[in-house]
Amino acid sequence: MPQIPKDVRGARFTGWGTALGRRTVTNDDLAATMDTNDAWIRERTGIHRRHIGGTNAELSVESAGRAIAMAGIDPASIDALVLATTTPDRAVPATSATVQNALGLRCGAFDVNAACSGFVYALVNAHGLVAMGAERVLLIGTDILSRITDWTDRNTAVLFADGSGAAVLEAGPGQLLGWDLDADGSAEDILYCDHGGFIQMDGKEVFRRAVRIMVDSAQKSMAHAGVKAEDIALIVPHQANIRIISAACERLEVPMERAAMVIHETGNTSSASIPLALFDAVDAGRVKQGDLVLMVGFGAGMTAASAIIEWGGR
Ligand code: UT7
Repeated sequence: MPQIPKDVRGARFTGWGTALGRRTVTNDDLAATMDTNDAWIRERTGIHRRHIGGTNAELSVESAGRAIAMAGIDPASIDALVLATTTPDRAVPATSATVQNALGLRCGAFDVNAACSGFVYALVNAHGLVAMGAERVLLIGTDILSRITDWTDRNTAVLFADGSGAAVLEAGPGQLLGWDLDADGSAEDILYCDHGGFIQMDGKEVFRRAVRIMVDSAQKSMAHAGVKAEDIALIVPHQANIRIISAACERLEVPMERAAMVIHETGNTSSASIPLALFDAVDAGRVKQGDLVLMVGFGAGMTAASAIIEWGGR
């Protein structure tokens, strides 16, 4: 189990921003075109509406532009861009290249695909870059799931949507206390999308495994960080289904009141899900300096990832 070396160079968030798909789609809108209804979607998933539309680069530039403005830095001073996404605008080049140019960055840029665990994978990578000497890293999680969703398939269409969340990570007082990245490729066939196709999902099996791997990953991060469930001020779970979040919180013994929650508004936005929930909670004043925040995601792969940060750094 990887431990963070004691004398490693640390980093903390100094700016953040979010963006949602251009058009609001309610459950009633979906019920008008397929055999579903608002009550079922709310009860079984927690989703009330979602936002779709826009390209990956457009939403990424919007959220990252806000993050850079809040950090008050010159985009040319950023040393690396890491974009977590499952839905790049093109097969080649990486969408991070488009975003790098649009934002006026003068640095290396690459995409990370770890499905809905992507933002946490990218976060851990970004901390690694700072440990290797980068002063500032731009971190983005964006997905345009509407592009790979079959809008006639009620098993998936009620869940997925578009969004983006971004953060500037700057060297300084370190925030990362523990992390865990997992994958189990043997479960690949329960959630996948072929080139040119739509998301295929065994929902029940994904649900069953999701709770187990989220709890397992979160427990590993807590053990690495040397913290207990009662120390966690805010848990930021992947926003896939409110029942998955509730089951995971119960097993982790973290009260649901401590969970960051935007699923009712956003649906499942994959790589954007954790930053959307985290920065919503932060902007609502739910996180203060020194609070411990646990991010935990799961997704196709099946991947799982978690990280514990001390807000503001220590
Ligand atoms: O980022 C990771 C991505 N994926 C996930 O996180 C998915 C994880 N899985 C889930 O969230 C849930 O399994 C679903 C939301 C996909 C489905 O919920 P469920 O409680 O597992 O429903 P179910 O498949 O057991 O279906 C229950 C009933 C069935 O009807 P009968 O057989 O009881 O008459 C389904 O035909 O609900 C019916 N149903 C629907 N009804 C209205 C299934 N989908 C719908 C729908 N609207 N969209």
